[in-house]
Amino acid sequence: MVEEVLTFAQETAVFAGKLTQQKWLSPLTISEKGRHDLVTDADIAAQALVTQAIKERFPSHGFLTEEDDDSLAEDGDIIWIIDPIDGTTNYSRLQPLYCVSIGAAVPLKNEWGHVIDYDVQAGVIYDPSRDELFSAGKGLGAWVNGRLLQTSPLNTIDDAIIGVDFGRNPHSQHSAKDFVLDLSQHIQGIRLLGSAALALAWVAAGRFDAYINFNLKPWDIAAGLLLINEAGGTVSDSDGTSLKWEADGMDCLASNGRIHSTLAHKINSTLTN
Ligand code: IPD
Ligand code: CA
Ligand code: CA
Repeated sequence: MVEEVLTFAQETAVFAGKLTQQKWLSPLTISEKGRHDLVTDADIAAQALVTQAIKERFPSHGFLTEEDDDSLAEDGDIIWIIDPIDGTTNYSRLQPLYCVSIGAAVPLKNEWGHVIDYDVQAGVIYDPSRDELFSAGKGLGAWVNGRLLQTSPLNTIDDAIIGVDFGRNPHSQHSAKDFVLDLSQHIQGIRLLGSAALALAWVAAGRFDAYINFNLKPWDIAAGLLLINEAGGTVSDSDGTSLKWEADGMDCLASNGRIHSTLAHKINSTLTN
């Protein structure tokens, strides 16, 4: 099952990514869903391409997507967690730092039937600007364009390059600001890509040693989580405990695994002081 879903997700992510590139050739329709929260006609079109393909191939599966679509089933044995364009602000300004993120997960429910966790089986992140297809299957490993991925070998944070995004929520911006100011004195460098999913793929690839964001959504994380786990890294809440899946916003600390507890400890001590 994992192989079938993974192959399908790889093909679909590339199709959607190519569509976003074509859309760049003509003027985009850009609107604001919330303050500084953009959506373009390409986000809508790419999501429709992906969800339509899934509905045809896997009619019993459910969806958790960034862009609203009442026609999509929410429940199913497998839930497709989709961010059609992660990095929409970059995309809307023709900055080539964005990606398509698709995860296929088994939902784990509590006694009241609420989903409390996702067991991601396949995760794909496609970066159309570099034609890089990051993909992972549970228990199978993680690759970029067929090359096996491993998180970085760094054991201490001194030489670390760490990705961060501030997000749009004032609380998360405040947390990130305090933490980043302190952290920057102890590591090699901070990077802000403006695409959380791409940053997670880069952690899996060892390009970043860690990534931190205090306000992500499930569709920012699902595919990257599996990529990092399969590449030997760790993804958790910012305090080092298990991820708390919340469609309203969730903390995320992702790393090569080796520096994870140091970073979780630093976050805890910065934010509680
Ligand atoms: C955003 C990007 C950004 C992160 C935001 C996300 P979007 O996703 O991943 O890096 O800081 O929190 O919402 O809106 O471009 O899909
Ligand atoms: Ca996103
Ligand atoms: Ca998006």
